[in-house]
Amino acid sequence: MNINARLRLKLLAGAAFFALVGCGRGKELPLSSAAVVPLLPPSPSPPTAADGALKGQYESNFLVGAAIGLAQKIQAETEDADILVKQFSSITAENIMKPQSLSPAEGVYNFADADALVNFSEANGIAIRGHTLLWHRQTPDYFFQGTPIEVKDRLQKYITDVVTHFKGKVYAWDVVNEVVTDNGSDITAPYRNSRWYQAAGNSKDYIDWAFEAARAADPDTKLFLNDYNTETSGKRTRLLAVVKDLIDRGIPIDGVGHQHHLQLSSNVDQALKAIDDVDALFSGLINHITELDISVYSDPGECFSSGENCATSYGDNVPESVINDQAQMYRDLFTGFAARPSVKSVSLWGLTDDASWLNGFPVERPNYPLLYDKDRKVKKAFQAVSDLNFVI
Ligand code: G3I
Repeated sequence: MNINARLRLKLLAGAAFFALVGCGRGKELPLSSAAVVPLLPPSPSPPTAADGALKGQYESNFLVGAAIGLAQKIQAETEDADILVKQFSSITAENIMKPQSLSPAEGVYNFADADALVNFSEANGIAIRGHTLLWHRQTPDYFFQGTPIEVKDRLQKYITDVVTHFKGKVYAWDVVNEVVTDNGSDITAPYRNSRWYQAAGNSKDYIDWAFEAARAADPDTKLFLNDYNTETSGKRTRLLAVVKDLIDRGIPIDGVGHQHHLQLSSNVDQALKAIDDVDALFSGLINHITELDISVYSDPGECFSSGENCATSYGDNVPESVINDQAQMYRDLFTGFAARPSVKSVSLWGLTDDASWLNGFPVERPNYPLLYDKDRKVKKAFQAVSDLNFVI
């Protein structure tokens, strides 16, 4: 049975169940029928959302996306499928379109999981964002072996094969991910001194190779350079230098992906300035927000670099004030994105809090960074962005 059919079956079963319970409350039911209706405990009336409230709110501005895992798991967890279908217009594969998943050995391709995700999306009219063709993590060692020419040929064959496989199905690709250095005094600045940089003969050439192969394989999909911390001025300056260099040399790039992994102490104005700076320098480039989440902890820099001085865990009890602040921050961001026409896609990095990577990063600690809680109920953050009249 396909996902649509399962979903429909579940909704029908749910409708039948509620009809039954509703009938049980009807005075005109004969006593014998009423007697078979089980008595239910009073429901706490959990927050729910009108169908399409989220994607509908931004329909004329941008796609609203979420990163998810296996389609098979979504299929089994029908509540997740239901949420995706009703509230989201874009999906990103959190891991299964990365090189480690798609090609664990040279010349060997494993498209099954990614194809299942594409099938789920196509069956439900949801667009697919591709993540990622090149990264220095989650990439098998074989990619980095040999001379720069061998590395180039192998990378270009991989990108050609993958982009061709998904041609017409993926509306945008993160062609290169996190190629900008965090260290402004790095001699390779603005480039990250990564395995890719080294394998290309201590050069940035691999970035060109990746974009050129992607464009040749699919002239219609949008090509992105994706990175984190564009809300900080130093990283942003280096990123803009990399993008400008690509444009000046005619390398085919369509847009900048801002990951926007934020925390409550992040500066919303700076997160929006990242978009304005791209707009100001390169008219015509697209901005995507690719991995948005807001950690409820405000950690200092050393927490990320050495795990020291991280904020104390809230455990299961996040203060209401924190949930409210998070909701307000989400609203400020979404409102700012909607006011900027170059923003064409905004994706959350996950669907529900329990599935977020932030439960394990920068330290193990329950986090609550997304729009849905672990019970698949909408949080105030969801209500704040999907209904601008909602009082936080
Ligand atoms: O699939 C294996 C599984 O077989 C094994 O049993 C299990 C044991 O640890 O590991 C599983 O792999 C994990 C994988 O996620 C899938 O769950 C990896 O250990 C784990 O490292 C990996 O983490 C991913 C991380 O990228 C890798 O760097 C996160 O889920 C994913 O959210 C995260 O996403 C990145 C973006 O791609 C780029 N931007 C930053 C963002 C957050 O780090």
